[in-house]
Amino acid sequence: MSEFKNFDGMFRLDGKVALVTGGSRGLGLHTATAFLRAGARKVIISARKAEGPQGINQAVEKLNKLPGIKGEAVGIAANVADTEDIERLVKEVKKTEDKLDILVANAGATWGGPFEPTPDWSSKKILDLNVRGVFNLARLFTPMLEAAGTREDPSRIIIVSSIAGVTVSHVGDHGTIMYAVSKAAAHHLSRQLAIELGPRNITTNTVAPAFFPSKLANGLIEILGGQRELEDNNPRKRLGEPDDIAGVMLFLCSPAGSYVNGEDISLDGGVRLSTGRRGKL
Ligand SMILES: NC(=O)c1ccc[n+]([C@@H]2O[C@H](COP(=O)([O-])OP(=O)(O)OC[C@H]3O[C@@H](n4cnc5c(N)ncnc54)[C@H](OP(=O)(O)O)[C@@H]3O)[C@@H](O)[C@H]2O)c1
Repeated sequence: MSEFKNFDGMFRLDGKVALVTGGSRGLGLHTATAFLRAGARKVIISARKAEGPQGINQAVEKLNKLPGIKGEAVGIAANVADTEDIERLVKEVKKTEDKLDILVANAGATWGGPFEPTPDWSSKKILDLNVRGVFNLARLFTPMLEAAGTREDPSRIIIVSSIAGVTVSHVGDHGTIMYAVSKAAAHHLSRQLAIELGPRNITTNTVAPAFFPSKLANGLIEILGGQRELEDNNPRKRLGEPDDIAGVMLFLCSPAGSYVNGEDISLDGGVRLSTGRRGKL
């Protein structure tokens, strides 16, 4: 018989404090929901907008009404493409917490269009948020993450990338070349951080989704022929669902994932492997 340290708590987050950027909707909100349901003590969600139907406040209100949760959701508005605003976010978090167990760098931006007329602002916006912003988030939260991590139970950084970072998905009229480049950079940033921060009891991994219906993805889903057609293209015959992101995030952030470091997990039903024709990823 094998002895496990905490089999019943293998996928639990009891007592943990997490920060999820872009937590007001989409994949970030799915992640925040999963963390609270898995026992997290506090989940801080961040995004630019506090008010309105897409803002942080409405998300916090919904999260705190989840049945059976022991922890709480808290919102802090910040633009995580802006270094000064990240510094302010760190200070805000420090007002109530000395340590941070989990950082999910999820907020991301995209832009699509033909190659040559690409406006330079779109490339700056993408790189500032998806690469430089993620680097600075990790850098500036490292002291708080290091304070929480131990050899047995390291703190976690999860970077939400995209299978666009490992495939050449969209070129031409609706090309997303700089987005794909930014996500490839995010993968490699995660590997660098795995080695830089692993000895300081912080692991870093990347989650690379394919299409999950969301504000960011819905426009491209329609351009590519709609959800039905994309589902038909996917080996699993469906797009991503909230449970899919919840499962992978819990694996990586709970005791189950404590020895996983520098890994890219594709969350795509296998569609990235559909070569031999021009796949609709
Ligand atoms: N959905 C997909 O199919 C898919 C596939 C592959 C990868 N991804 C990746 O998954 C992540 C989440 O995407 P999603 O589909 O969930 O998008 P979404 O529904 O549009 O949500 C994006 C979130 O990020 C926040 N955000 C955007 N810019 C920000 C900034 N500068 N500072 C702080 N927060 C910011 C948004 O709130 P505010 O607008 O209020 O700031 C919102 O909370 C992104 O990194 C995306 O690239 C998504």
